[in-house]
Amino acid sequence: MPIPRILVTGGSGKAGHWIIQHFLESGYDVINVDTRRPATPLCRTIVADLTQLGQTVSAFSAHSTGNRAPYAGVVHMAAIPRAHEQPNDEIFRVNNLSTYNVLEACGLLGIRKAVIASSESSYGYCFADRFFAPHYLPVDEAHPQLPEDTYGLTKVINELTAAMFHRRDGTQILSFRIGNVVCPEDYAPIRARFDQPEDRLRMLWSYIDARDLASACRLAIEQDGLGCEPVIIAADDTSSSLTTEELVKRYLPGTKTFKRALTGRDALISNARLKALLGWRQAHFFPLT
Ligand SMILES: NC(=O)c1ccc[n+]([C@@H]2O[C@H](COP(=O)([O-])OP(=O)(O)OC[C@H]3O[C@@H](n4cnc5c(N)ncnc54)[C@H](O)[C@@H]3O)[C@@H](O)[C@H]2O)c1
Repeated sequence: MPIPRILVTGGSGKAGHWIIQHFLESGYDVINVDTRRPATPLCRTIVADLTQLGQTVSAFSAHSTGNRAPYAGVVHMAAIPRAHEQPNDEIFRVNNLSTYNVLEACGLLGIRKAVIASSESSYGYCFADRFFAPHYLPVDEAHPQLPEDTYGLTKVINELTAAMFHRRDGTQILSFRIGNVVCPEDYAPIRARFDQPEDRLRMLWSYIDARDLASACRLAIEQDGLGCEPVIIAADDTSSSLTTEELVKRYLPGTKTFKRALTGRDALISNARLKALLGWRQAHFFPLT
């Protein structure tokens, strides 16, 4: 049987590294497309700027690697990954154009499946000048997206871009609304600031281990008939040692609407849709000690 092939964009970055590692461990041949080479190369990298359609199509072409086997799909992580660290128009240009070009290239080249990186930031409370509480808890996919910043806006636009390409080309596209990505080395520094829970209020204490994000990306590529929809990917638990009840009491006292009871250290953003759709289960839980 031929070895399945997968494209990962932004594979030289934080999440991409673990996504590439997971696909390699799962028996895939992986091509990384990024503007820079990774610190620790795991697979072949094609250096390309995804804001350029010509470069994107060329990089995604099966011919570009001398191996004409078709790709099972694209996992698109490349982006400017947060607000306020680059000029807003640059965030708008890079994040919107790169996602447009990635999905346009999929249509042109017959690549049938994609995962794109949306974000919990699309809900707005992460980067708003003045923090506002969610309308209800736990936040789910039906919660309004109310960004007041350009980064969050690009994620909303990218979800609309995905819907257009799904209608046009039939590409299967899941937009993962990703919680705060945590790598193994991130746990200790977060734990060291457990006495400052307000640090992580803006992300509602959400997190997702990069390895659990990676397994969800693979499931989304391996399953058929998923259509096109946004799906939250976040852990079952929080990245705080306090109970969720205590976090809500201290930091979200105005939130009175609960779609379900939150007990113990239950997450404040819901991964129920992800579990129902993909059968995904979390393997890496926040180590409290
Ligand atoms: N890190 C998080 O907590 C988090 C949370 C929610 C969503 N996300 C999203 O997940 C994705 C990955 O985030 P990350 O933390 O790994 O980011 P990262 O910055 O570590 O990696 C992004 C990669 O994209 C590449 N890139 C940027 N512009 C490009 C272009 N025009 N062409 C080709 N490559 C380009 C960069 O060189 C970089 O290697 C992003 O889309 C981000 O918005 C991240």
